[in-house]
Amino acid sequence: MQVLVIGSGGREHALAWKSAQDESVIKVFVCPGNAGTALEQKLSNISINANDFQAIEDFCIKETIGLVIIGPEQPLVNGLTDYLQSKNIKTFGPSQAAAQLEGSKTFSKDFFVKYGIPTAAYASFDNYSAARQYIEDIDYPTVVKADGLAAGKGVIICDTNQDAVEALESIFKDQAFGEAGSRVVIEDFLEGEEASFIAVVSKDKIVSLATSQDHKAVGEGDVGLNTGGMGAYSPAPIIDERMHQKILNEVMKPTMDGLIAEGSPYLGFLYAGVMISKGELKVLEFNCRFGDPETQPILLRLKSSLVQLCLAAIDDQLDSYEIKWTVKHACGVVIASAGYPESYASNHKVTIKPSSDEDMKLFHAGTKLYDQKILTSGGRVFCATALGDDLKAAQEKAYNLVDTVSFEGAFCRKDIGFKGIQ
Ligand code: AMP
Ligand code: GLY
Repeated sequence: MQVLVIGSGGREHALAWKSAQDESVIKVFVCPGNAGTALEQKLSNISINANDFQAIEDFCIKETIGLVIIGPEQPLVNGLTDYLQSKNIKTFGPSQAAAQLEGSKTFSKDFFVKYGIPTAAYASFDNYSAARQYIEDIDYPTVVKADGLAAGKGVIICDTNQDAVEALESIFKDQAFGEAGSRVVIEDFLEGEEASFIAVVSKDKIVSLATSQDHKAVGEGDVGLNTGGMGAYSPAPIIDERMHQKILNEVMKPTMDGLIAEGSPYLGFLYAGVMISKGELKVLEFNCRFGDPETQPILLRLKSSLVQLCLAAIDDQLDSYEIKWTVKHACGVVIASAGYPESYASNHKVTIKPSSDEDMKLFHAGTKLYDQKILTSGGRVFCATALGDDLKAAQEKAYNLVDTVSFEGAFCRKDIGFKGIQ
């Protein structure tokens, strides 16, 4: 079978690398991919625009693609799954309607309330003056969020009323997030510890993936600007058996049932970002995809086939699917370009010292191949990921792997995993 993975980040390198390990898979194409997917055995990049649905369909037919896995949120929100499924191409990802859980914060917050899913109190506005009036009478800190997709940057934590005024001005007046900011959600600030709960969902059936936690802030000790994620580890000790059941019962099941009731049953990876405090939880957000960088440590721990898991979900066979994990812990450290998550330079030449430890994997993200050289092409450039008998051992190995990579301006957080190490 041949597989097509849509996307170009670290998540997609991991999805494609893992898909290629299935014995029934002879080739995995990645659209458009990165230098890592270009160099990996059994993988090949293709340069088709992910918005050109017809070109993707033509490619799938020409190469008799048996499974399409869509990595990022944008093509899902644009309806790529609906299009390919309507052409009878096996596609793993939610429909455009179900992807609204991530595509619109107003949609998701209204959905949480309708189906009794715990979340922070909120209000939603489509104009500056009503939002401006609302922030006069609320407690601080508060959280102002652009409604649409903003690559993880559309959330502004406001300590004071003045901060909230500036946030609203930047969103409505300066259009800092473009169309994504034509609406805002303003919600109560939640305290606690965040965790990612990611599962494979098919209608009313669910297979939970290994638990994980990521580090969103750019600075050590979780300070500074929010990023897409500077590193992640799995498992996450904060999600013990009780919390796992609680998230399934209070968040995942009502969401799956709610989507069925709305006529948009879910298929794909479903990711709940939750805030846990004193044994209780609230949902911060839903993502309609696998997390990046959570995918990298989670897939390093997956022993069974990713391809068979996706196919079981598509064929409504999740009930009989047995997923297998290594008991080892995994840690992934993002190596980023100086300046990220703000502006950064690209096209720096990368050197990598070879390493052959099978418990380590260097996933590429913002890289490209040019003239047989690896160049940087993004803010998050690699995720150095490793397994160990415990989190500390995994962390140590991941940082050893970080040391094999160099390019001008490379930086990483030195404390990825600290929250999970007592
Ligand atoms: P979101 O895209 O809604 O998950 O927000 C991105 C990040 O902003 C989250 O992972 C949290 O770190 C933070 N955040 C979002 N909403 C809240 C909230 N209500 N209270 C505290 N922090 C929040
Ligand atoms: N790591 C957070 C995300 O993928 O949204």
